[in-house]
Amino acid sequence: MATERTLSIIKPDATKRNLTGKINAKFEDAGLRIVAQKRIHLTKAQAGEFYKVHAERPFYDELCDFMASAPVVVQVLEGEGAIAKNREVMGATNPADANPGTIRAEFAESVGENSVHGSDAPETAAEEIAYYFSGLELVG
Ligand code: CDP
Ligand code: MG
Repeated sequence: MATERTLSIIKPDATKRNLTGKINAKFEDAGLRIVAQKRIHLTKAQAGEFYKVHAERPFYDELCDFMASAPVVVQVLEGEGAIAKNREVMGATNPADANPGTIRAEFAESVGENSVHGSDAPETAAEEIAYYFSGLELVG
């Protein structure tokens, strides 16, 4: 399998509870390298642009408010099959369905406040990385 990069976000529910280090340890223990990382506070408009694929969904407005409610940590993870591997480490969207040991099983508070975001395919990973990082900030 090829080396890939994927966009990860540690969401406000997790940064508020000081879980950045514990979540990063899960990535590193799974063999993912954090090759870029920064803590930012999104505006609601910036969150809305990032999640525009969900604009018609009933949870969209609440999701944008939540993502702008406190700082997030945006990061690029690199590794063999990083996109799927990160989704595995994250666990299912709804923590009630997440496998034991996954980030969402251990830390998520609800289906909305579920601690992490991860890209779902190579095309979205490239777009999402470019939304937050310039090439100069990606240091493999
Ligand atoms: O994050 P993931 O790719 O697992 O799920 P998604 O279907 O792409 O949804 C994006 C985000 O919207 C989720 O991570 C949740 O924060 C939120 N969401 C929600 O609030 N209620 C739902 N029923 C589904 C998703
Ligand atoms: Mg998604």
